[in-house]
Amino acid sequence: MPKLDLPRHDYAARRRLLMQKMHTAGVAIIPTAAPKSRNSDVQYPFRGDSDFLYLTGFTEPEAVLVLAPGHADGEEILFCRPRDPERETWDGRRAGLEGALEQCQVDRCLSIHDLNDVFPQLLENRELLFYPMGQSTDFDARVMHWRNVAKSKIRQGMRYPLEVVDVAELIHEMRLFKDPEEIEILRAAVGISGAGHRHGMRQCRPGMLEYELAAEIEHVFRRLGSPSVAYPSIVGGGINGCILHYTENDAELRDGDLVLIDAGAEVGAYAGDITRTLPVNGVFSPAQREVYEVVLASQKAAIAAVQVGRSVTDYHDEAVKVLVDGLLELNILSGSRDAVIEQGSYKAFYMHRTGHWLGMDVHDVGHYRSADQSWRKLEAGMVLTVEPGLYFSPDNPSVPERWRGIGVRIEDDVLVTTGGPDVLSSGVPKEVAEVEAMMAAGWAEG
Ligand code: GLY
Ligand code: MN
Ligand code: MN
Repeated sequence: MPKLDLPRHDYAARRRLLMQKMHTAGVAIIPTAAPKSRNSDVQYPFRGDSDFLYLTGFTEPEAVLVLAPGHADGEEILFCRPRDPERETWDGRRAGLEGALEQCQVDRCLSIHDLNDVFPQLLENRELLFYPMGQSTDFDARVMHWRNVAKSKIRQGMRYPLEVVDVAELIHEMRLFKDPEEIEILRAAVGISGAGHRHGMRQCRPGMLEYELAAEIEHVFRRLGSPSVAYPSIVGGGINGCILHYTENDAELRDGDLVLIDAGAEVGAYAGDITRTLPVNGVFSPAQREVYEVVLASQKAAIAAVQVGRSVTDYHDEAVKVLVDGLLELNILSGSRDAVIEQGSYKAFYMHRTGHWLGMDVHDVGHYRSADQSWRKLEAGMVLTVEPGLYFSPDNPSVPERWRGIGVRIEDDVLVTTGGPDVLSSGVPKEVAEVEAMMAAGWAEG
């Protein structure tokens, strides 16, 4: 399998745009994530901070980007780890200052060990400090210390930033709109996620353990070039499908049950996020099918509402209408559609919203409401998930026994375009007949 060939982002253009949005009297400091200890001498796999990666593409830990518009010695400084042959023998290769300069095309690279000395000087005579507050208490304390160092020079006639502005707000608005390279990478992430799901459909058998099915799916992700899942896979058989964030994945998949699979690959630091619900034995029972068809119709109605100019809550509202109609038709709820929606009684079976922004983070950044509190309108280049579901708790006596313990969710990833919704995950079967046919083909393969 050839190595994945992903397009490169124009990081310099992103930094320029961010500096345009900053006040010229501002200075920005954006650290990558801190490595996290898992247990003695073992770290969690390192994943850089998405905002930092968005602006640099630099994947090493212990790195900080500083933007100082108009600074005479260079506007863009990357602080990173210097080369260190001994440490590199233990922990792996480092780009070093020269490598990082070449890779990131910033004006200067300095050692991360010089940050303490250099950064307070960069604050001098700047009015605003742009910094993602509240993400790391350790780094927050360092930033406040550096600001105090700059402040201590006021008797020498220095000014220092009086205001701290959350730079994440500016970056997140940029990240909400995906450019062509990002869309290509998202297509790869969703495509690989979809390949894993299709493989899972073919491999699912009664008697398997949930984690075996997860392993089949994640094996495809890794083999196709994804370094990590975008989030822990959810493989919930039977009543486990009613637990929204179920990740134990250690129960047996039983003949006659459904299995809800919510799994996505991360590729080039972008997330896929797909859910399918399958009959473990390859054929939906009549009761399962009744619920599944309601969720599927709801999902299709919601996708149809993913249109430029419609509000981001419209597609949720469309999904809810169809779910409620289904619940009324199945006599699980009674009354009128409007009354059920008004009272919110459907929330016993549908307790989450219909989707979220998708991008570098699975629950990607960006506001859903405008400053005036109105839901924002969809625009071309936004990417979101559409994922309605119905979950009938096994011990809810108000639900006829026929449907108790059934959990169904169907989730696709959708790009908003002027030509309508572009369903990036459309290659993963979701029609009842298509799902059953793919599962039967898997059985036939042995
Ligand atoms: N996989 C998380 C979600 O669907 O929101
Ligand atoms: Mn999901
Ligand atoms: Mn999702």
